[in-house]
Amino acid sequence: MVEINTARIAVVAFSGGLDTSCIVSWLKEDWYGYDDVQRGRTHGSPTSPLLQNRVHYGFDEVVAVLVDVGQEFDLEASIERARAAGADDVVLVDCKAAFAEEQCARAIKANALYEGKYPLVSALSRPVIAQAVAELAEELGAEAVVHGCTGKGNDQLRFELSFKAHNPDLRVIAPLRDRIWTRDEEIEYALAKGIPVQATQASPFSIDENLFGRAIEAGALEDPWAAPPEEPYALTGDPASAPAPAEVTIEFEAGVPVALDGEELPLAELVAKLNGLAGPYGIGRIDMIENRAVGIKSREVYEAPAAMVLIQAHSALEDVVLTKDEARIKRGLEQRWTELVYEGLWFSPAREAIDAFVDRTQELVDGEVRVELRPNAAVVTGRRSPHMLYAEQLASYGTGETFPHAAAEGFIKISSLEVELAAARARAKTQV
Ligand code: ARG
Repeated sequence: MVEINTARIAVVAFSGGLDTSCIVSWLKEDWYGYDDVQRGRTHGSPTSPLLQNRVHYGFDEVVAVLVDVGQEFDLEASIERARAAGADDVVLVDCKAAFAEEQCARAIKANALYEGKYPLVSALSRPVIAQAVAELAEELGAEAVVHGCTGKGNDQLRFELSFKAHNPDLRVIAPLRDRIWTRDEEIEYALAKGIPVQATQASPFSIDENLFGRAIEAGALEDPWAAPPEEPYALTGDPASAPAPAEVTIEFEAGVPVALDGEELPLAELVAKLNGLAGPYGIGRIDMIENRAVGIKSREVYEAPAAMVLIQAHSALEDVVLTKDEARIKRGLEQRWTELVYEGLWFSPAREAIDAFVDRTQELVDGEVRVELRPNAAVVTGRRSPHMLYAEQLASYGTGETFPHAAAEGFIKISSLEVELAAARARAKTQV
């Protein structure tokens, strides 16, 4: 059933770049025609009175939503591009603070490193962007929400699971999955539609960026043997020309960074400032082959200086505060948390339940960590907390220590019982 008289609205997660600009234009001009041909539907004869006034089968209204999660973007140029592509409205949603305080803070508390290396930069931003898009779609009574992810990546999962978690009735359109465009085709299409194409859009790298870092893929990086070129880096400098080592002190409250070198800062600002301090040392450059949810391995290069320093510092503070079992259980759950978020399940009962555990463990994770910034490395050189379980009088090898040495003998005796039994059994067996 085609509801010709109701305005059909699509809300697009718009990045300001070439992909999503082409999508806006396509939705506006061609999308329904394409969709119906694909699905074997027809709209009736061209002389149908219902269709006589329609010159195309696109959406009546396309709204481009640009969500600010701390990426670099040129607002004027983005608006101009969306307009040129035919967007009826362009909406900017500032989610920087919310993104920092929810997703980034939780990632730090969970020491989230996918496959032990990647601090989930893109994976953290998608639920925020998707939520902003879904909320606006609901407000406008839109028929569909739209993203610019391909069928090969993880981001399609993150967007679509987040859309569905917000509103299972929303129709999701993924034009770059439905139809594969080459970069050249896109540029040609954009030029034909009068969408301005920047010189940088001819760049061979695919880059995603937010407050927590940058993800770089494609181009020369597709060869896993090829060393990453300097060219696509923006947040970090070449460690070979790093400045002299310097120290920073990070203060945490309940597991969340609250001050940098004594200056209290909202997390978004603290992260931005620390990116500026650690970046020139090349700290947080990560070159990895990762396992995507869709089953392929991909070469990714990341730069996330603040994220890496903060996770390292946070985990060093936990070392002196958490009990042995809290720490052991948490390390296992951290990995599950990271995998869930990587695979698009930010909005899920499992992630929330793990976070309930994490939050409970963080109640006493207050204190300071001193980190030395060196070329290629952030090195924790000190940690202190008012709630340390670290007890110098127990651990010390100096005078005045209070460790109950006499009790150690009994402890070892009991601990070794099972080993002794097993050893005796093994001996008896070889003697038979
Ligand atoms: N592989 C990373 C992830 O799945 C980054 C993907 C972001 N996209 C990009 N254009 N580099 O989170």
